[in-house]
Amino acid sequence: MINLPKSLTSDPDFPRLKSYIISVTGLSYFQAKEEDLSQRLLKRFEILGIYDCGNYLTRLGGSSGAGGELDLLVSELTIGETYFFRHSEQFDALRTVIIPALIKKNEATKRLSIWCAGCSTGAEPYSISILLRREFKHLLRGWMIDIIGTDINRSFLSRATEGRFDDWHLRATSEELKVLCFQRNERSWLINAEYREGVSFLYHNLITGQYPPRYEGPMVYDIILCRNVMIYFSHETIAAILPQFDRCLGDEGWMLLGYSEINTDLYRAFDLVPYPGAIIFQKRKKKPLAELSWPANPDKFPTLSQAQAPALSPAQTPAPALPAPPSSIRPALAAAAPASATSLPSIRNFTVDSETPYRQCRSLADIGDFKGALAVANELLMKEQLDPRAHFLRALTLVQLEQFADAEEAFRKTIYLDRKFILAHYHMALLYRKTGQAEKSKRYFANAGDLLQSLDRNSELLEGNGMTVVQLAHSLKSYGGAA
Ligand SMILES: C[S@@+](CC[C@H](N)C(=O)[O-])C[C@H]1O[C@@H](n2cnc3c(N)ncnc32)[C@H](O)[C@@H]1O
Repeated sequence: MINLPKSLTSDPDFPRLKSYIISVTGLSYFQAKEEDLSQRLLKRFEILGIYDCGNYLTRLGGSSGAGGELDLLVSELTIGETYFFRHSEQFDALRTVIIPALIKKNEATKRLSIWCAGCSTGAEPYSISILLRREFKHLLRGWMIDIIGTDINRSFLSRATEGRFDDWHLRATSEELKVLCFQRNERSWLINAEYREGVSFLYHNLITGQYPPRYEGPMVYDIILCRNVMIYFSHETIAAILPQFDRCLGDEGWMLLGYSEINTDLYRAFDLVPYPGAIIFQKRKKKPLAELSWPANPDKFPTLSQAQAPALSPAQTPAPALPAPPSSIRPALAAAAPASATSLPSIRNFTVDSETPYRQCRSLADIGDFKGALAVANELLMKEQLDPRAHFLRALTLVQLEQFADAEEAFRKTIYLDRKFILAHYHMALLYRKTGQAEKSKRYFANAGDLLQSLDRNSELLEGNGMTVVQLAHSLKSYGGAA
């Protein structure tokens, strides 16, 4: 019996196999993650009884179509992290700027077409459906609304079609909205029929697929969302996709991307529209950008019902974490300070010192470059997804960028990975305090206080910039904690 190799990286055909996979999926994330790719491939090798890359390549090359080997491999390679109302500022932008502008523009046709490219299990298209049907119900009466979600992973698409979600997908959705829009069933939530109306899902590979993604239906879209997808692609791949998106957008159409995917070099063809806490793009038009009236000071946090995250269940409840020293928390980054095209960092051009990325991340935050800090934290996490320090630094920068729901999630991951990360508990408490969630804030301050008890008073805290146990205890006291 032949044993599977422990790693495929020394197989002479591995480079060829890797190139082929990247060329058909766009996932150049694996360019420098050979061992990671090797481990994922080995799972398929084991199932198929294949022991070398050459044979697998032959198998892969001959497998096109639904359910073929490429599909099964894609299920191993893709990351489908998603949740309802992710990046709440972008939903604010949809609510206050984009949808109202489109309702005005499309008044005659009464049609609205939206494409979520890389939609994973469907939280994103359904969130938009909920937003439109709950908040624009009267204005959109009689309109034809078409929301299409596409993805390269067919099993994600089946789940999206089923419309069943767990608590994790609804962690940024209020209890009230959950009850109104879903049927509770044992441990899952099934989206109500009215929010499925007009929403459809389709297989589409952004690298090899046609643009627009289907022959029938709208040939141009009013909004294209492609969030947290191109972060895995190379600069060249993104440069090839963007003109296609541009072509698929109708006049004055809008494009929403993930925060860390903004690279000004690549997006020059679009008008960049700053919005508090988010960056949105609009198809370039002849007349100067919008006489749009921006909300002078939009209430950034809990606008929608999505703001309130559910309490952790006891099983999930990690021990608390600690805060970063107040000095590392810059006074409110101006989500309100509109980003300009020239000031945006380019994650691709960012040079990360592999020896000191944590220090670099903190330094960037210290000089107020939170987007740069976020890019470094994201880079760290692309290398090691289970690194609590990277999640923690990411969470701190997200707080500064006023992306509170994402920050909450990042703190939660930190604590999940390291229950004793005191400063994560502490900062989670500060975040809840800031967002008016007093009970939760109290709980996390108490967690931090409890964890402090077992530590030497002069010891320094992880990711605390020299902050000691005793200093944190003082800080906790000032917030009314028992420490
Ligand atoms: C992290 S999820 C993002 C989901 C959602 N857009 C969000 O932001 O919540 C990334 C998705 O991109 C999909 N994806 C990756 N490569 C793709 C490709 N070449 N074509 C289409 N989708 C792709 C993955 O299958 C995955 O579902």
